Amino acid sequence: MVDQIKTYIEQVRAFSTEKPDELEAFKNKYLSKKSGVVTNLFAEFKNVPTESKKEFGQVVNDLKNSVEQKYAELKEFIENLNDVKVELDLTLPGEDMPLGNRHPISVVRRQILDIFESLGFVAIETPEIDDDWHNFTALNFPPEHPARDMQDTFFVEKNPDIVLRTHTSNGQIRFMEKHKPPFKVTIPGRTYRNEDISARSHFMFHQIEGIFVDENVSFIDLKQTLLYFAKEFFGHQTKVRFRPSYFPFTEPSAEVDVTCSICGGNGCNVCKHTGWLEILGAGMVDPNVLENVGIDSKIYSGYAFGLGIERITMLKYGVKAVSYTHLTLPTK
Ligand code: PHE
Repeated sequence: MVDQIKTYIEQVRAFSTEKPDELEAFKNKYLSKKSGVVTNLFAEFKNVPTESKKEFGQVVNDLKNSVEQKYAELKEFIENLNDVKVELDLTLPGEDMPLGNRHPISVVRRQILDIFESLGFVAIETPEIDDDWHNFTALNFPPEHPARDMQDTFFVEKNPDIVLRTHTSNGQIRFMEKHKPPFKVTIPGRTYRNEDISARSHFMFHQIEGIFVDENVSFIDLKQTLLYFAKEFFGHQTKVRFRPSYFPFTEPSAEVDVTCSICGGNGCNVCKHTGWLEILGAGMVDPNVLENVGIDSKIYSGYAFGLGIERITMLKYGVKAVSYTHLTLPTK
């Protein structure tokens, strides 16, 4: 009998639960007034031989105490468990939200501006909606120039005088109207041309313009600046090539190529096996343009350049201009 009770005590000590109903069942099993194990053992007491009564009484009391102790312990444990679940600490910091990444166009725009900044250029903002004077006329575009054509230019509200700028060169005029040389500025921004959307063109794209005006600025300064830019941006082995070209607002004008950054100038698909990639247009500011903004072209000269950020980004990241014209868009 005593051994049996000692086994009960061991079982009680080993018992564990996280569930309140299991804990109550445990308590009832031993202490229930009607048929609990401990209750029955106390009832048994009168039948125990006198010489064993003392030991029997002790172990039954031990059992009862173990049950009560275990019950109290587990009850507190379970209550704490629940407390943890419902308690919210409102002072805890929230979970981090993933912020995403900058768009490649923004990354490259920043890189280009940084390079020119290291040469003393200051980036300025100029309007995207401008008048004919700033976008064309002051830039020496003759009245019949095809760029003014409806095909290319977006006019605002059918007003032939107000356009979405077709290049950032309008910013040259905007800046020079208000500032006397010497100055060195970059003009980043959105530009618009009425082009079909394809893998190579879009009606909205981004350019960065640069202009430097001072006394005795020469084509050498332009070449050296663009060579420095090309080496900084594409790598120090990069070479540049100037091809004669035409822009109304520069004279002489050039289109500038760099050695292909993909094949290193050996020839590949991207450079169409020429080893060269065109990256920008440039030239010496036409004296007419300086006169149009009240700068004396006999004292001052300058250079200007303009590059397309999309094109340079595609070259930098090796993005192929794949056309998806074979895909048909779902109709409603
Ligand atoms: N505005 C010219 C273009 O959009 C680029 C350019 C800028 C050329 C400055 C020469 C000087 O193509």
